[in-house]
Amino acid sequence: MKIAMIGTGYVGLVSGVCFSDFGHEVICVDKDPRKIEMLERGEVPIYEPGLDRLMNKNVEAGRLSFTLDLERAIDGAEAVFIAVGTPTRRGDGHADLTYVMAAAEEIAKAAKDYIVIVTKSTVPVGTNAKVRDVVAAANPDLDFDVASNPEFLREGAAIDDFMKPDRVVVGVETDRAAKVMEEIYRPLYLRDFPIVTTDLESAEMIKYAANAFLATKITFINEIAALCEKVGADVKAVSKGMGMDGRIGNKFLHAGPGYGGSCFPKDTKALARIGQEHAAPISIVETVIKVNEDVKRRMIDKLVDLCGGSFNGKTVAVLGVTFKPNTDDMRDAPSLTIVPSLVGGGARVRVCDPQGKREGEHLLPSVEWQDDPYAAAKDADLIVILTEWNEFRALDLDKIASGMKSAKMADLRNIYSADAAAEAGFVAYDSIGRVGLIRA
Ligand code: UDX
Repeated sequence: MKIAMIGTGYVGLVSGVCFSDFGHEVICVDKDPRKIEMLERGEVPIYEPGLDRLMNKNVEAGRLSFTLDLERAIDGAEAVFIAVGTPTRRGDGHADLTYVMAAAEEIAKAAKDYIVIVTKSTVPVGTNAKVRDVVAAANPDLDFDVASNPEFLREGAAIDDFMKPDRVVVGVETDRAAKVMEEIYRPLYLRDFPIVTTDLESAEMIKYAANAFLATKITFINEIAALCEKVGADVKAVSKGMGMDGRIGNKFLHAGPGYGGSCFPKDTKALARIGQEHAAPISIVETVIKVNEDVKRRMIDKLVDLCGGSFNGKTVAVLGVTFKPNTDDMRDAPSLTIVPSLVGGGARVRVCDPQGKREGEHLLPSVEWQDDPYAAAKDADLIVILTEWNEFRALDLDKIASGMKSAKMADLRNIYSADAAAEAGFVAYDSIGRVGLIRA
């Protein structure tokens, strides 16, 4: 089957590559000539483990190609996926649908034969119906269907998530469109991965509800963590004990410095807006959005305490600035709130991140970049673990502590323990939702 993919961002590129690996003929389209040139050279514009290898394998097999020309891409295609950005609109928190609607119109003008227009971007309920109307108005003679096919992949684990999903969600209006979607996902279908086929509005809603639920789960444990610190409980034990209840589940119960990334902050805001607009407010999600900001501020308070009340004149080493490991993505990362407060408070900040430098250099000015965590910690007053990259999970704590001016650690991902820190010679150690160590 021939498939066109519009947009070569995270979701578009990963989906395009994986569909080609299913055996389909995929053409990925983007308006950005630099991106297309890079992809044609075999280079992946984002950092995602395994993506370059899989992409080049399918390019070599002749199933995957890239173009600036949308008309050529959809010529003969049975399905075209819209995977363009839906950023938060300035001012009102809504998802900005300019790119989705522009793509729909371009498809309408270029398409000749029956085609299924599938939205993969996360879009508010009602958008697929709008896409249908826009296409019908732009090309009244075109034979087409629309479908909603939200994507649930996580950055850093994108290929595995796409190839082995918990479920595939498909919203359609006709059997004909359902058959095309089934054909596209046949390799998953044959391996018993469940496909939920429903109407357009429910499919759109599933994506927002799922992301908002996960953001809520994280925020819930983050608030429990704050209470654990006050009552002397250990949040790691609490989430373990909670997670063993099959109704709760143990995933997304890791307390940390607040959720970030390209989806949770944007999608929670969009869902809150949709609720308000329909006079059915999702107050729990409105609260989650607010509490996640409080969580980040609480992290800054911890760091101020560890620095003895002020950042002024201190040297702080920050390990990890991307919003999570195995990505170079800095969108809405907690580091974007925490690092500027350190710098603004007069600290000298050294940053070490395996992939964050390229984007981070623009987003975090006035910091010093170090490739090596030990060099970053040298003569520092405080080391902060902000993102749990594997590289930071097995540090030689003795070596870190002995090189520091005052050996203090803020472990905002609960990788180490107060005992391990004490043994290594740290004089202060604080983490999330656990009793810390203060010697000085
Ligand atoms: C998320 C969804 O998981 C995915 O289904 C959707 O398609 C896109 O949004 P992603 O943003 O890539 O994926 O990252 P994810 O692994 O979900 O983490 C999101 C944020 O939550 C990160 O900042 C992470 O550090 C934080 N998090 C996650 C926690 O703080 N604790 C947890 O237990 C899990």
